[in-house]
Amino acid sequence: MDPTKLLEADHRQVEDLFEKIDRAEGDDRMPYIDELTTSLRAHMALEETVLYPAMAPVTGEEAVEEANTEHELARKALQDVIDLAPDEPGFGAALEAAKAGISHHVEEEEDEVFPELRKNSTVLEEIATPFMSKRLELGLPMKAEALAAGWSKEELLYEAKNAGVEGAASMKKEELAEALSSVMTPA
Ligand SMILES: [Fe+2]
Ligand SMILES: [Fe+2]
Repeated sequence: MDPTKLLEADHRQVEDLFEKIDRAEGDDRMPYIDELTTSLRAHMALEETVLYPAMAPVTGEEAVEEANTEHELARKALQDVIDLAPDEPGFGAALEAAKAGISHHVEEEEDEVFPELRKNSTVLEEIATPFMSKRLELGLPMKAEALAAGWSKEELLYEAKNAGVEGAASMKKEELAEALSSVMTPA
């Protein structure tokens, strides 16, 4: 199982929320800002507790330190967005600053950190189980496409049976991912 595929799906969701905030006006922004802060905080907590502590042997200590620092900056930037939302003067600038900092960090993860980890899959295999339980505990969604991209059919079948999905044995890969996504995603 490749946990980084689920993390990438989270990143796409964050980008989507930034766009929705951009397009909305005034109070209509609030539900998207809430969703953005909740999901981003959970995503960062997941990376900090499960992924970052395990990756130093592959990426080096410096990459871990850099990632943690960027999370701290992202938290501050998010707080500025919340403090000024939905339309205090400076809200637009705070939003742009948060978006720029977060997209820089996301690029670094997807272009440097994740590819390095994939070359050395032992780390990813080792964290797979704690990653999934922490994810569930934090209430982060599991998108079907992300599950299908990150897991083999055998892995999906194994998880689906564990989760009590009916008729799992006769399902195709996409159907397994769909079924697992609906059991594992909080309502
Ligand atoms: Fe991330
Ligand atoms: Fe991160």
